[in-house]
Amino acid sequence: MIRSRKPADMPTDEDSARISLTAHYTGYTWYRHGLSHRGLITPTGRALYTALRPLNGGARRLGLPNLDGLLLARHRALDAWLEQAIVDGRVSQVIEVAAGLSPRGWDFARRHGDRITYIEADLADMAKLKRNRLQKMGATSAHHRVVALDALADGGPGSLSDLAAALDRKTGLAIITEGLLNYFSRRQVLLIWQRFARVLRPFPQGLYLSDLHIASDNRGLAARSFVALLSRFVRGEVHLHFRSALEARSELISAGFPAVEVIHPECDEESADAQERRSARLVRVLRAGTRTKP
Ligand SMILES: C[S@@+](CC[C@H](N)C(=O)[O-])C[C@H]1O[C@@H](n2cnc3c(N)ncnc32)[C@H](O)[C@@H]1O
Repeated sequence: MIRSRKPADMPTDEDSARISLTAHYTGYTWYRHGLSHRGLITPTGRALYTALRPLNGGARRLGLPNLDGLLLARHRALDAWLEQAIVDGRVSQVIEVAAGLSPRGWDFARRHGDRITYIEADLADMAKLKRNRLQKMGATSAHHRVVALDALADGGPGSLSDLAAALDRKTGLAIITEGLLNYFSRRQVLLIWQRFARVLRPFPQGLYLSDLHIASDNRGLAARSFVALLSRFVRGEVHLHFRSALEARSELISAGFPAVEVIHPECDEESADAQERRSARLVRVLRAGTRTKP
């Protein structure tokens, strides 16, 4: 892992361990809602999920947004965008940075087979855990693998640029992050976006998909309590870097993505329940391309 300098806003190893813990929670959430495989859950995830159940249930009964609804809304929106890009033939290679225990790699790889290359990337300990779990499920292949990667590394082994250098420059590449950005400082996020744009640019299509929490969506009491709760849960600050979707959009353009959308997850009226639709108002999903015409 490359970390030559450690500025003040760089996460410590303790911060990283805390962020990694949340992957157990989300991993269990995907499973609990029928999106994942039993092989990707952990006792830690189940314990965290059980601990937060009264809050999730209470919010639902009161007609307020909750964590489950928000996670599901953003996850399904990112899945839908990625699916569309693959089906349209714009993308056939995917790097999911900070994949944690997410089922997305397993799901896309089993459905699209060798028509895509799906690389799941995370810090070394989480990557090892995920790889072991997928191997036990018989779910890794030449087209689906897990690698150790630090999203904050600028170059060298374990960096995104190193990983992308080995990919096929003749077909499109998508990078996905989910549940990662809001644990980093604004400066780190802007550096990550510049890094992603640089890595994606040599590919015929370069697509970046992510969730993002912004301040203007989180002004009400319920929303502010929710952010406070989340910060407590990860025992660290959850950053709201941008005042508005417009500001986030303009920073993405400056980072090197001329085509950008920052929207609330569009919940399907048929499949998403009222809880998911309510919770979707607290989060954004972003789709950014390195070409003006995707
Ligand atoms: C909230 S979890 C999200 C996991 C997954 N994307 C999901 O939605 O279920 C955050 C993940 O970020 C990973 N992570 C934290 N710091 C990272 C870094 N510098 N580089 C890569 N991954 C990192 C953690 O190990 C953890 O798996």
